[in-house]
Amino acid sequence: MPNAYISGTGMFVPPRVVTNEQLSTEFGVETTHEWIVQRTGIEARRFAEVGVGTSDLAAEASRMALEAAGLAARELDMIVFATLSSDHCFPGSGVYLQQKLGLCDGPDAKFVPALDVRNQCSGFLYGLATASSMVKSGACRHVLLVGAEKHSAALDLSKRGRTVSSLFGDGAGAVVVSATEEDRGVRGWWLGADGRYADVLSQPLWDIRQRPFIPTDEHGVGQVAPEMLWAKMEGKLVFRHAVERMVGVLMTAFTEQGLTLADVDLFLFHQANLRINQYIAEQIGIPSDKLVSNIQKYGNTTAATIPLLMAEAERSGKLRRGMKVACVAFGSGFTWGSAIIDW
Ligand code: UT7
Repeated sequence: MPNAYISGTGMFVPPRVVTNEQLSTEFGVETTHEWIVQRTGIEARRFAEVGVGTSDLAAEASRMALEAAGLAARELDMIVFATLSSDHCFPGSGVYLQQKLGLCDGPDAKFVPALDVRNQCSGFLYGLATASSMVKSGACRHVLLVGAEKHSAALDLSKRGRTVSSLFGDGAGAVVVSATEEDRGVRGWWLGADGRYADVLSQPLWDIRQRPFIPTDEHGVGQVAPEMLWAKMEGKLVFRHAVERMVGVLMTAFTEQGLTLADVDLFLFHQANLRINQYIAEQIGIPSDKLVSNIQKYGNTTAATIPLLMAEAERSGKLRRGMKVACVAFGSGFTWGSAIIDW
C-alpha cells in the first residue's frame, strides 16, 4: 500500500486588501478596527472583484500547487473541491475547476472525477481524508485538493450582519496529494460532526420543504428574507465548542499516533479567530514558534485556511521536508477534524 504525501502546495488571494478601517469606511460596516482586532486578531482580509468566482480563485491556487508538484494537470486522477461558497447551487465547483485547468480540452482531455466537499471550515481536512484514502487504496496516484472561498459576495454589511461580515475573507489554497513508496505523508486523520448544532452557524438560503423552495412574488421573482439570505452565527456558542472539539480531536490524534507535543514541529490550526487558537495553544502548552497564523491578513477563509497556511509556511521556510505537522479545524455543522502529516 503506498503512502499519501503532499507533493505540492499553492495559494491565491485576490489583490484587493480590505482593512478593518476600510470595512467601515468603504463598505459601511458599523464596526471599528479595535473591536475586530481585539476579539479576533483580524486586521485585514481580501475581497475578490465582481465577476470572479470561487473556482477562479481555486484555479490559480491549483496551478501553483501543480507546478510545485512538477505535474501537468493531465497527470491528475481526481479533483476534490472543498467550499461553502460554490460558484452556483449546482453543479459543485469541482467541474468548473476541471474546465478551467484545461482538463476537458482537446483530444487528450482527461475526464477525471470531481468531488465536492461541503464541510465548511473542516472541509479541507475532510477532503484530505478523502484524497489520502484514495491514494493509499491505490485508486489514484495524484489527487488535487482545493479549499477556496469567495465570501465577499455573501456578507450582510448591515449592522445585523456585522458579527459575521467582520470575520470572513476570500482566498484559495491547494495541495496535490500523491502516492509514494517513501516513509512519509499523511499518517492519520480524525473527523467528527455533531448535527445537533446544524443551525447554529448556517446560511439556509432556501427551504426545500416548501413549494416553491424560495417564495416568489406575483411575477415569479424569488424573495429571500434576510434571515434566510445571510449567514447567521451564535458566536459565543461556536467559540466554546470550537475550543472543546479542537482540543479533543487533537488529543485523539496524539493518543492514536503515540505523540507528545515535543514530537510535533508545526501546528496548522484553522484560522477562525486568533483568540481561539491562542487559547488552545495556551491550554495545551504549544510554544508560539510552533503555531503559524495568517488570519491577521486574510480573515477567516473557511475551507482555504489550512492549505493557505501550508503554502505560505512552505515558501517562508517554516514548513520543511521531514517535519511532523499537526492540523486541526472546527466549523459549521458542527464539524471538526485533525490530521498528522510527516512532510
Ligand atoms: O470558522 C467558523 C467558526 N466561527 C468561529 O469560530 C467564530 C467563533 N466566535 C467568535 O469568534 C466570537 O463570538 C465573535 C468574534 C464572532 C464575536 O465576539 P463576541 O465577544 O462573542 O461578541 P458578541 O457577538 O457577543 O457581540 C458583543 C457586542 C454586541 O453588542 P451589544 O449587544 O453588547 O451591544 C454586538 O452587537 O458586540 C457587537 N458587535 C460588534 N461591534 C462592533 C458584533 N459585531 C461587531 C462588530 N463591530 N463587527
